Amino acid sequence: MTTEITWLGHAAFKVTTAEKTILIDPFLTGNPAATVSADDVNADVILLTHGHADHVGDTIEIAQRTGALVVANFEIVTWLQGKGIENVHPMHIGGAHAFDFGTVKLTIAHHGSGLPDNSYGGNPAGIILKLADGNIYFAGDTALFLDMQLIGEAGLDVAVLPIGDNFTMGPEDSVRALKLLKPKTAIPMHYNTWPVIEQDTHDWATAVQHKTGSEPVVLEVGGTHQLGSK
Ligand code: NI
Ligand code: MN
Repeated sequence: MTTEITWLGHAAFKVTTAEKTILIDPFLTGNPAATVSADDVNADVILLTHGHADHVGDTIEIAQRTGALVVANFEIVTWLQGKGIENVHPMHIGGAHAFDFGTVKLTIAHHGSGLPDNSYGGNPAGIILKLADGNIYFAGDTALFLDMQLIGEAGLDVAVLPIGDNFTMGPEDSVRALKLLKPKTAIPMHYNTWPVIEQDTHDWATAVQHKTGSEPVVLEVGGTHQLGSK
């Protein structure tokens, strides 16, 4: 089976490989864009970019129910352990680790990371996920930064970027980001969940098509992109 990336709404994604189901930032309960319930998702692994409620989301409930391994920065992992989550793996920015499902590397992101109860959540991160079928970069919530050029050197099949503006980079900066990251495929996220981050994905896709070497793939919520396809 080819690796698939499914958008669960907002910044939540499900990556399904031949062996594993990996959730990224599983915010489903209270997510106006979500079409699946936290009770209905399976997970072997949960990856978190930062501590904000719209990213940590249902991590505790899903981890408790499924026993999924939670990978996040040290501060978030410590907070989760305090909530009774035992199957965890702390990392930090710049560090990579080879897991049985693939290699995770945390990158910089320019944003905040306070946890839902206002605990300190360390620094926010992006994630490079290296799988047998290709490399995916989840930028997390971030501004545009020039070091995306270094992240692109990993050789990216897919870059998942916020385009909502206001809390993160907007459409124009995401196009500039793609020029630095040079992924084969660009998938937008973190838009249209609430009115303040509404964006026109048709305009965005046209700009990506004309100004970058990347192929824009705008997913519907529940929609899937197969790694290696166009
Ligand atoms: Ni955030
Ligand atoms: Mn967010």
